[in-house]
Amino acid sequence: MIAIYPGSFDPITLGHLDIIERGSRLFKQVIVAVLRNPNKTPLFTVEKRLEQISLSTQHLPNVRVDSFDGLTVKYAQIQQAQVLLRGLRAVSDFEIELQMAHTNNTLSTEIETVFLATSNEYSFLSSSVVKEIARFGGSVDHLVPPHIALDIYQCYNLKSLI
Ligand code: PNS
Repeated sequence: MIAIYPGSFDPITLGHLDIIERGSRLFKQVIVAVLRNPNKTPLFTVEKRLEQISLSTQHLPNVRVDSFDGLTVKYAQIQQAQVLLRGLRAVSDFEIELQMAHTNNTLSTEIETVFLATSNEYSFLSSSVVKEIARFGGSVDHLVPPHIALDIYQCYNLKSLI
């Protein structure tokens, strides 16, 4: 089975990578798909995020990185994927994720959403948390891969941490 792991990944965190690694053991192929979202002002361009994710997943031979726009289920159909993979951190994620899964199910009954519970150690972690810490001068070395921490410090001009 082919699984799509869709998201913003601005930037990808160790929590996302935990889901990707575990998903890659469950599915024949995992496609990490970055949404091109014109309504958001991201920290990193889509191209930079694709590069960051490729570098972070190069040890996983059945993981591919791509970008898409429009509906996730349409993209999944084009890729002949059967599964949308999403991580669940806490009950607070559940409401929105369930709504998304139900919405996607109305668009295609062929595609199933599969949730993986995020590992305990990453239950608090999100791209927004990483950006907030870095913006106020904190270290994010324990939250993202080293090359992404450098990218973030560069963005916020935190030369002392580079
Ligand atoms: O990392 P994120 O921002 O939580 O990911 C959200 C994402 C990209 C999975 C979701 O917004 C999405 O699938 N957007 C594409 C548009 C779509 O398919 N909408 C219908 C489902 S609500």
